[in-house]
Amino acid sequence: MAHKKLIRFEEIKHFPNVLSFPEGMAGKWHAFFQNDFPIVLELGCGKGEYSLGLVRLHDRLNAIGVDVKGNRLWKGARTALDEQLNRIAFLRIQIEQLVLYFARNEVSAIWIPFPDPHPRKSRAKKRLTHPRFLWQYQQILQPNGLIHLKTDSRELFEYTLEVIHQTGCKLFAIQENLPEDAEGELGIQTYYERQHRAEGRPIHYLSFKLPENPTAFEPWSQINLTAIAAWRPGSVQLT
Ligand SMILES: C[S@@+](CC[C@H](N)C(=O)[O-])C[C@H]1O[C@@H](n2cnc3c(N)ncnc32)[C@H](O)[C@@H]1O
Repeated sequence: MAHKKLIRFEEIKHFPNVLSFPEGMAGKWHAFFQNDFPIVLELGCGKGEYSLGLVRLHDRLNAIGVDVKGNRLWKGARTALDEQLNRIAFLRIQIEQLVLYFARNEVSAIWIPFPDPHPRKSRAKKRLTHPRFLWQYQQILQPNGLIHLKTDSRELFEYTLEVIHQTGCKLFAIQENLPEDAEGELGIQTYYERQHRAEGRPIHYLSFKLPENPTAFEPWSQINLTAIAAWRPGSVQLT
């Protein structure tokens, strides 16, 4: 590992706003933040720009950036500490195990900015809008909570629209070719968004709600917590 990455890895171990594979946090996030404001997740947060941006925009909101890469989380966590933004935390975990870290209804919204699109069909299960992930979101998201996706990938955008349609989710908002000067939450730009815009790639946005039907994501709803806890990257896929 490069020297800078190693230093950052060591540093985040001592950051009060970074929790790395923590045990027993499900249901404890409001106690962690010491308030009862809504909690928004940013999945695959990288440097955490959405978490930072949302908390700067809204006084009564907590944000948790989730990513497995500690050296990327370092940037967002360092910025939050420097700006004394204490309504942000960073959670270093595999998103495949999200359901182990949150209790039912503990999350009020989910942002997924520029996830890896995994264009190969054989890797569709890794897309963060695949039904196996939607099932996990259903376990922790409040009813009517919105899931927001921003992407430069036309394929992932269309795939997600198809999943929404097939699983009975409700499309809430859609904007293709989001303008550079979009305002409010949509105007927050991440590292990947800036890169894509610099290359002239159009950016697409949509948001949707999950269905009330708990079996909407069969067969994923058959997966038990033991299998999720035992899951390791590269191990047998959760089926
Ligand atoms: C393409 S980058 C986007 C980063 C950031 N959202 C942005 O827009 O700049 C995708 C991020 O998702 C993280 N990621 C992808 N799959 C993940 C998983 N299964 N669990 C945790 N993090 C994951 C990667 O580590 C990476 O930081």
